[in-house]
Amino acid sequence: MTTHLHPENLALRDKYRLTGWFYDMLDYPWERQYRKWRPGLLEAVRGDVLEAGVGTGHNLAAYPPDARVTGIDLSERMLARAQRRAKRAACRVELVHADATQLPTLSDGRFDWYIATFLYCVMPDALQPAALAEMARVLKPGGRFKLVEILYSKDETIRRRQERMAAFVQRVYGARFDRNTLAHIRAIPNLEITQTSFLKDDTYLLIEGRKTAGTVV
Ligand SMILES: C[S@@+](CC[C@H](N)C(=O)[O-])C[C@H]1O[C@@H](n2cnc3c(N)ncnc32)[C@H](O)[C@@H]1O
Repeated sequence: MTTHLHPENLALRDKYRLTGWFYDMLDYPWERQYRKWRPGLLEAVRGDVLEAGVGTGHNLAAYPPDARVTGIDLSERMLARAQRRAKRAACRVELVHADATQLPTLSDGRFDWYIATFLYCVMPDALQPAALAEMARVLKPGGRFKLVEILYSKDETIRRRQERMAAFVQRVYGARFDRNTLAHIRAIPNLEITQTSFLKDDTYLLIEGRKTAGTVV
């Protein structure tokens, strides 16, 4: 990756240079529930797919054989870990070291789907408009997206637990429970949110939508 990185992305890349060594071990208690959700999230995803923030590749096994996945990540260490899962995937996977906020090597309207799980809760609010504008640009007219992120709960007990975890989660993953992803999506002219739902409690939010201009795929 030769593009100039925003200082907040440089910090994230450095964080994942370290976290990448033990990410799968550290994330295991959460991954035990995420792995039950991933097949349902991805079973209908077909054609050319951009997965942003592919990480260590936990989604890759869940794509159907006729998907062609380009997985991008800011962290070379995370991508190195994803290689093994890419080889075992039923579909074709290409892993690329790239920043989701600037994707100059990916042409306009190339993808049928854009997938990002636990990327936008990691991505600073200031960078989200650029990443979402890139999502809108690289999607085909009618192309669809699914984003999963974590949010603060309205339930006091859950929220207190999240507040106790917040400093750790931010230090290790760069993730926060108070990102404004929905508002950032609504501000992008060509993006339409078609559905929001929770995968668990009111904390794991699935955002589904599409690029509005043109024909629906
Ligand atoms: C919490 S991990 C989630 C990994 C994976 N999506 C999953 O569901 O297990 C977040 C990933 O997003 C990547 N990331 C953060 N900012 C990024 C950016 N601007 N462009 C590409 N990847 C980014 C990090 O390097 C990390 O691998």
